[in-house]
Amino acid sequence: MQKPGILIIHGPNLNMLGVRQPEIYGNVSFETYLEELHAAFDEVRLGYYQSNHEGDLIDCIQESPTSYKGIIINPGAYTHTSVAIRDALTGIQIPVIEVHLSNIYAREDFRRVSMIKDVCVSSFVGFGLEGYKMAVERMMEFIRAGF
Ligand code: DQA
Repeated sequence: MQKPGILIIHGPNLNMLGVRQPEIYGNVSFETYLEELHAAFDEVRLGYYQSNHEGDLIDCIQESPTSYKGIIINPGAYTHTSVAIRDALTGIQIPVIEVHLSNIYAREDFRRVSMIKDVCVSSFVGFGLEGYKMAVERMMEFIRAGF
């Protein structure tokens, strides 16, 4: 049987993980962490897409249900501004989990609003990279339950 696919989507500046503000986001690149995730979840086909461009993220979200059973998304700063990304997530029929490395609810006021929170089935906020592992585990539960 084919392994269920889960797509991790990253928004702007998350290609700079490991280099960008390490005191907030850590000093490990996502590519390095992704190897750990692949090793930890042999039973899952994990995909990864990063873009600094809102429209490209929306194209990716729209296309994802043809190849994936769920999305884990960290839209970066678009979390706080993008009605368009929210609309794209609302328009697809697979579960979406939101992840943020930092605790957006304990930072500047402008980060305390998530445009996507209520269209996601779950959120992991402030756990650093471990949040992605938690999100994959939770997504597997949703997929097993037939979502
Ligand atoms: C972030 C939080 C956002 O406010 C910020 O713009 C990011 C990263 C996080 O993972 O903590 O780029 O999404």
